[in-house]
Amino acid sequence: MAQTTTGLRSILSAAWAYELLQTLLGTRPMRRVFVNDYVRPFKGARVLDLGCGPASLIEMLPDDIDYTGIDLSPGYIASATAKYGHRGCFHVMDAASLRNTGETFDIIYSFGMLHHIDDDRCRHVFEMAEAMLRPGGRYVTFDPCYAEGQHAFARKIADWDRGDAVRTPDQYLALAGSAPFARIDHAVRHDLWFLPVTVHLMECLKR
Ligand SMILES: C[S@@+](CC[C@H](N)C(=O)[O-])C[C@H]1O[C@@H](n2cnc3c(N)ncnc32)[C@H](O)[C@@H]1O
Repeated sequence: MAQTTTGLRSILSAAWAYELLQTLLGTRPMRRVFVNDYVRPFKGARVLDLGCGPASLIEMLPDDIDYTGIDLSPGYIASATAKYGHRGCFHVMDAASLRNTGETFDIIYSFGMLHHIDDDRCRHVFEMAEAMLRPGGRYVTFDPCYAEGQHAFARKIADWDRGDAVRTPDQYLALAGSAPFARIDHAVRHDLWFLPVTVHLMECLKR
């Protein structure tokens, strides 16, 4: 795992602390853009959320989707199950140990997970996501990134991140390109938060 869990950042292992920080940082509008403009959930969709954390994104999804969330953290999954167990299934699982069991999804997404895992594990995640998508399905990703011309504060935010594998857009794209997606669209956004922050989004389309 490429994640810093020591010092002040260790407190974020508690779901309540992580959720409180998200609220204080005002990440809701950014999450709303991710869901509405990039995930684009639709009625009845089968959705897999990789690195779901305490799963607050589920509040922005329609009620009638078939949702599964996985995360490495037992604490986050316990919190997600207690709060949203009536909305979906949650499992403690390493996304890098996903196996193709024949289950398929319309949409797979990861909000802020890839920058927590090293390159080999990321390649495995992309390979499995591609294999587990239905034809025309999409794997949608969102992660902080280092980009040319970004604000110095945005770069500092990326440096401070708990994830130790914040990458450049080209590096994220190269990892996604290791799986046989039909098309990969991407965007670098500097406008999603009230303070300067740079994020990289990808939509990887299954043939
Ligand atoms: C920045 S948090 C994002 C959480 C959540 N997606 C959200 O919307 O707030 C990154 C999450 O990825 C999870 N994670 C990191 N590595 C993982 C892995 N290999 N497999 C599954 N989850 C992982 C962490 O436990 C954490 O919950």
